Amino acid sequence: MLANPPLLIIAGAKGAVGSTVAATIAAIKTDPHSVLPWLTTGHWTKSVKSVMGMEFAGWDVSPRSLKQAIEYHGVLPREKFLPHEKYLNRIQIRLAPSGEPSLPAYVEQLIRDIEDFKSLHPKTHPVLVNLLPACQGVDLKGCTRLEELYSQADPRIFPDLAYVIAAISSQVPVVNFTSNSVELPLMLEEALKACVPMCGRDGKTGQTYLKVVLASALKARSLKVDGWYSLNILGNDDGMNLADPRRAAGKVANKTELLDEILGYRVGQQYGAPSHKVVIDYYPPRGDCKEAWDVIDFAGLFGLPMSLRLNLQARDSILAAPMVIDLARWMAALHGVGRSGPIPELGFYFKKPMGYNPPVTFQDQIAELHRLENDCRKKRRG
Ligand SMILES: NC(=O)c1ccc[n+]([C@@H]2O[C@H](COP(=O)([O-])OP(=O)(O)OC[C@H]3O[C@@H](n4cnc5c(N)ncnc54)[C@H](O)[C@@H]3O)[C@@H](O)[C@H]2O)c1
Repeated sequence: MLANPPLLIIAGAKGAVGSTVAATIAAIKTDPHSVLPWLTTGHWTKSVKSVMGMEFAGWDVSPRSLKQAIEYHGVLPREKFLPHEKYLNRIQIRLAPSGEPSLPAYVEQLIRDIEDFKSLHPKTHPVLVNLLPACQGVDLKGCTRLEELYSQADPRIFPDLAYVIAAISSQVPVVNFTSNSVELPLMLEEALKACVPMCGRDGKTGQTYLKVVLASALKARSLKVDGWYSLNILGNDDGMNLADPRRAAGKVANKTELLDEILGYRVGQQYGAPSHKVVIDYYPPRGDCKEAWDVIDFAGLFGLPMSLRLNLQARDSILAAPMVIDLARWMAALHGVGRSGPIPELGFYFKKPMGYNPPVTFQDQIAELHRLENDCRKKRRG
């Protein structure tokens, strides 16, 4: 997959994931061997050429420097990022529009910033990555014109939309790594009109990734899932934010719905109540080192019960950052070969992939990625 290296323009650039992505890109410039072996989540994006020239820019509301943000999140020990401080200090992160701007004013400022980022990095392919905090769902699906959206959406509650509108207006592809529903029908239509590809939503990094793998494996053997209890504890800012049930609702729904979709039946139907449960709990001592437990009850021949326990001790941003980089590279490549609108083939990366008929089992998601890569390659040659 050869294309211009992406310029990752990140909304929420100083968050735990954003600042880890920045440190990774900085490391690529100065000590590539410290990150390259772990960089891509699949062999299909191994072209090193398109990795080395990657750049980083973005916005945040935090006045911290990027170095202070990395220290604050505690994802990386100092010796992993201090050697790359020079590059980190050069990165342009703008303050997000402040005060009480209207949505059009917010969008206008972002468009100007995007133009500046583009001119600072003329040899790259800009891609917007949304890494803003999870927000309370707002139903704007009924808006059929931008003017309607401008009058109904409040950027203080749902700033994500401003970033997406600004990106599409600037012909910049969009990755929505958050659980926030930016893929309104109107946004998808605008993306198609502007010939811009979009993908999302909600990065599938740890527990849900393994859930897809295990559910696909159980399905392949006709083992029937009777119940699945998933508990997560995490102590980073994302975890604190998700302690608000209104903000967590979208993420819990994304984490829950996909199991029935993979298996092809409603888990717990025989009980008259769902027996697939997902709980997210804020537990400060863990910081970014998230822990997840899964209890999976399933049945085999003669309906005889069996059970499986899974305990994942992971690092949220360490799992997320390579996926963000992969996705930016996919978007640059797909935009380069003329793809636009939603890209359901990237379902591998997301809990709730956008677009028509995304692949749901692990096997199908991998097969679809290979098809997408071959397609890209053919189009580039053709
Ligand atoms: N880490 C994972 O494994 C994972 C997986 C799936 C989804 N996500 C999602 O990715 C997003 C980022 O995660 P994170 O851990 O980096 O969160 P975070 O809370 O550490 O980072 C969010 C950043 O956005 C900034 N911000 C807030 N409002 C803003 C605005 N209006 N404009 C610009 N910046 C603004 C904050 O200051 C903060 O730096 C979250 O929505 C999270 O749910 C993360």
